[in-house]
Amino acid sequence: MNLSVQLAPKHKRGLRLANPVITASGTFGWGTEYEHPYDIQRLGAVVCKGTTLKPREGNPQPRLAETPCGVLNSIGLQNIGIDAVLKEKAPVWAGWRVPVLVNIVGETVEEYARLAQMLEGVAGVSGIEVNIGCPNIEAGGAEFGVKPEPAAAVTAAVRKATSLPVMVKLTPNTGDIVGVAEAVAAAGADAISLINTPKGMVIDINKRRPLLGNRFGGLSGPAVRPLALYLVYQVAGAVEVPVVGMGGIASSSDALEFIMAGASAVEIGTANFNDPNSPLEIMEGIEAFMKKEGIEDINELIGAGRG
Ligand SMILES: Cc1cc2nc3c(=O)[nH]c(=O)nc-3n(C[C@H](O)[C@H](O)[C@H](O)COP(=O)(O)O)c2cc1C
Repeated sequence: MNLSVQLAPKHKRGLRLANPVITASGTFGWGTEYEHPYDIQRLGAVVCKGTTLKPREGNPQPRLAETPCGVLNSIGLQNIGIDAVLKEKAPVWAGWRVPVLVNIVGETVEEYARLAQMLEGVAGVSGIEVNIGCPNIEAGGAEFGVKPEPAAAVTAAVRKATSLPVMVKLTPNTGDIVGVAEAVAAAGADAISLINTPKGMVIDINKRRPLLGNRFGGLSGPAVRPLALYLVYQVAGAVEVPVVGMGGIASSSDALEFIMAGASAVEIGTANFNDPNSPLEIMEGIEAFMKKEGIEDINELIGAGRG
């Protein structure tokens, strides 16, 4: 049975994953935290925490709130910064079989390009996920993802700065996600991933103020799944490049819905907080479904449920 998928078919080296299950940025640390006793080498890929030029401390506490079937977070891109990622994390990744994609965020187009340049030729880095939709920071991030032109400008700058496969991650906080997807594909993205978190909030009625320190946050988990699936369906129908779907995937049947909507792979985020084994269980569940249905190649299922 073939579970392997290609996420960058037009790229000279390509980005082939052994299976379509990836851990989502910000929900799986640097991957290194999960190395033992869990066999992360069996995953399709790992995407690391959003990485910025300088280390960031993130937003004021509280930064997480549980919501019906979901989580609201306003972490604010707390991370160790690109220099520490190159020095401390990449050498570990270089010894792994599982490919690692570095998720990058800049405050300007130039910062995105600089981050991409710094990752060029680094052993242990197999690709870049470009986050143009973080809802939790003031400058950069989300601004680029809401309209086609700035999204294309970031994509073109990153494309020019690196020979690595480039996947651009879209935000649902726009009225024109298909326009943004078409623009980033035309600007040279090898693949597109979606969704980042839609914005939300919770009010603490006793304190009479927003519960999160930063007032607003990004919603994730099963609550967003039908929205995410709809947007993946729309984007996959509009672009030629591979699409990676995420948003509330917690089981193999959830993952199969995204694949059948047209996603070539899936990312697992919030489900890791309930059970860090869930990505592997989802992968095994996909395998079991294929066996039951007599399907030899996962690629037969991509888009098979579009109707
Ligand atoms: C606590 C937390 C931190 C996150 N940090 C990042 C991040 O640094 N970069 C990014 O692109 N997405 C980040 N995300 C978004 C996830 O990668 C994913 O797009 C989203 O949560 C939807 O998937 P899920 O419902 O499976 O979690 C974060 C999500 C959560 C819950």
